[in-house]
Amino acid sequence: MNKYKSFRELLAFKAESWLITGVAGFIGSNLLEHLLKLNQRVIGLDNFATGHQTNLNDVQSLVSPEQWSRFTFIEGDIQNSGDCARACEGVDYVLHQAALGSVPRSLNDPITTNAANITGFLNMLVAARDAGVKSFTYAASSSTYGDHPALPKVEENIGKPLSPYAVTKYVNELYAEAFARSYGFKAIGLRYFNVFGKRQDPDGAYAAVIPKWIAAMVRGEDVFINGDGETSRDFCFIENAVQANLLAATAEDSAKNEVYNVAVGDRTTLNDLFAALKSALAENGVVYKKEPVCRDFRPGDVRHSQADIGKAASKLGYAPEYRIREGLAKAMPWYLEN
Ligand SMILES: NC(=O)c1ccc[n+]([C@@H]2O[C@H](COP(=O)([O-])OP(=O)(O)OC[C@H]3O[C@@H](n4cnc5c(N)ncnc54)[C@H](O)[C@@H]3O)[C@@H](O)[C@H]2O)c1
Repeated sequence: MNKYKSFRELLAFKAESWLITGVAGFIGSNLLEHLLKLNQRVIGLDNFATGHQTNLNDVQSLVSPEQWSRFTFIEGDIQNSGDCARACEGVDYVLHQAALGSVPRSLNDPITTNAANITGFLNMLVAARDAGVKSFTYAASSSTYGDHPALPKVEENIGKPLSPYAVTKYVNELYAEAFARSYGFKAIGLRYFNVFGKRQDPDGAYAAVIPKWIAAMVRGEDVFINGDGETSRDFCFIENAVQANLLAATAEDSAKNEVYNVAVGDRTTLNDLFAALKSALAENGVVYKKEPVCRDFRPGDVRHSQADIGKAASKLGYAPEYRIREGLAKAMPWYLEN
C-alpha cells in the first residue's frame, strides 16, 4: 500500500482541525471535499475575490450532512490580520491557498496582487505562528523558476522572476524560510505546476488554459493559442495536488521548511493539449471541428515547464496517481455538466 493510502485510512479515524484559506476557490474547495470525506474538522476562510459560493455548495452536495456540519466558513480577508487570527484559532494544520493567481492579472495590477499575495501571506504566517499550529503548508508556484532554462525543474535551481506574480510567490518562500529560522516555525511550500480539475473557473480574462479551452470547444468558439503551440507545461490533476497537501501537512519534521514541486513529471505542449482535449471531448460525444488560432506569445509566460518530482517522492512519499489524460477523463463529465 502506498503512503497516501495508508495515511488516509489512519486519518479517517482521527479527527483533526484544518484551516483552508481560499476555500471557495478551485484548489481550496477540492481540499475541503477530501478532508470532509475523511471526517476532519475544517475551517475555511475566503473573501470571494475569485472564489464562488457555488463551489462550497457543490462540496456540500457531495458529503454527508454530518460531514458538512464539521465545516465552519469565515467570510474574511487575509489582508485583515484579525480575520487571520480568528481563522487560526484551535487549528492543527493550515493549508494556505488564498492568493490572486494569474500572471496577466499581476502584470495589469501588480499592487492588488502584491497586497493579497504578500501582505496577506505575512498576516497568515503571523496568525499561524501565534496560534501555535502544527504545520503551515502553502501554495507556492512553478513561476518561481522564472527564466532558469534547465529542464526538468529541480527545487534549488531557480532563475529570475518573469512577472509580479512570480515575485510574490518567491517572496512567500523567503518569508516562510525566515519564519522557520527566526521562530522555529514549520512551513512547507508546494510549487504547483498548472493544476487542473473540477471547480476550476472557466470564465474571465484570467481563466486557466484547460477550463477556458474546454468551455470554448463546447460552445463551438475559437480556441486561441498564445504563441506557436510548442510552449509546454507539466499539467497536474487536482487529486495529485490534494495528495501533496495532505502528505506535506503531516510530514515528519525533517521534511518541513522545504519547498517541493507538485506535478507529474510530464511535459505537454499546447498543441498536444489541444489534441488531448479534442479526443477527451469526442469520447463524451462533443466533436470540435475547428483548428486552434495562434496569436502572439503572452508576456511573462515561461516557455517550458516540467517538474522533477523526486524530492516530493522521497521526502513526502508523494506518488501522483493521475497523468494528464487520466485527469482529463475523470474531470470531463464535470466540465460538460458545468
Ligand atoms: N491553479 C494552478 O494551476 C496554480 C498554480 C500555481 C500556484 N497556484 C496557487 O494556488 C492557490 C490556489 O489557486 P486556485 O487555482 O485554487 O485559484 P482560485 O482563484 O480558484 O482560488 C483562490 C481563492 O483565494 C481567495 N482569495 C483571494 N484573495 C483573497 C483574500 N485577500 N482573502 C481571502 N481569500 C482570498 C479567492 O476568493 C479564491 O477563492 C493560489 O495561491 C495560487 O496562486 C495555483
